[in-house]
Amino acid sequence: MPGIEQGLRHRGAVCDDKAVERNSLFDLTGRVALVTGSSQGLGLALARGLAQAGAAIVLNGRDEKKLTATAETLRAEGVKVILSRFDVTDGAAGERAVEKIEADFAPIDILVNNAGIHQRAPLAEMTEAQWRAVIDTNLTGAFLTARAVGPRMIRRGAGKIINICSVMSEVARPTVANYAAAKGGLKMLTRAMAVEWARHGIQANAIAPGYFLTELNRPLVENAEFNAWVCQRTPAGRWGEPAELAGAAVFLASRASDFVNGQILYVDGGLLAGV
Ligand SMILES: NC(=O)c1ccc[n+]([C@@H]2O[C@H](COP(=O)([O-])OP(=O)(O)OC[C@H]3O[C@@H](n4cnc5c(N)ncnc54)[C@H](OP(=O)(O)O)[C@@H]3O)[C@@H](O)[C@H]2O)c1
Repeated sequence: MPGIEQGLRHRGAVCDDKAVERNSLFDLTGRVALVTGSSQGLGLALARGLAQAGAAIVLNGRDEKKLTATAETLRAEGVKVILSRFDVTDGAAGERAVEKIEADFAPIDILVNNAGIHQRAPLAEMTEAQWRAVIDTNLTGAFLTARAVGPRMIRRGAGKIINICSVMSEVARPTVANYAAAKGGLKMLTRAMAVEWARHGIQANAIAPGYFLTELNRPLVENAEFNAWVCQRTPAGRWGEPAELAGAAVFLASRASDFVNGQILYVDGGLLAGV
């Protein structure tokens, strides 16, 4: 099937013999990844994982000091890093930032929509501000950043988008209605991106973490009862370590996933496998 083979070679896909020889299916050398919310936590672990596979990193967050400190840490590890401070809920700021990254640095090959917040409250007491803040950051923020980067990827005929969902994309718990609605929405946004953009050489997928040890979850980790519940509810019997997300991210950012579209990869220690 020469037509098919030619198509795959054109896109640099798996039938590139040299790539296979170099074992470079997962190699990200020369790629540029914008990871939103990467000054700490899972975003930082995702950025570090992509960098270890060869990518240059655009760090993002709202707090300049945190970003600068994280950039220094990564540079000391030999990572090529630039900073792009913007709030993902501000569409115009995101557009300006993406334009600047591409003009001054390089085209964005990989977008990881990771920025997220929690504001917990019982549903009957949840304020409109709590609802809107979480939807704005965790769902609208991903839409706005993808809308800034996506058209550029479409023009280039290639790109990888990884949305950071959650087990809350599938199941809920008391006090997280805003978060579960946002992450459920993000799962469907991932599929919507895939059906519109796959034909343009863009693969949009999601990683859905279970419970990981980060600042976002500090109140839960420090709550002995909740901590025990997580360890009992997760078949692996423990919280996840942020670095354990890197493999999934490298897979979804690399040519190894060039025919994977609209999938949600649960990295949850088996949490969703049982009740
Ligand atoms: N930890 C878990 O167990 C877990 C499980 C499932 C899913 N997740 C998801 O994973 C993602 C990261 O979570 P995490 O635990 O690493 O959280 P985290 O430690 O609180 O880090 C959140 C990051 O997002 C940035 N951020 C927040 N709002 C932003 C905004 N409007 N614009 C730009 N950056 C913003 C923060 O920096 P600034 O405050 O400086 O902006 C920070 O770098 C979130 O989407 C979360 O929902 C986490």
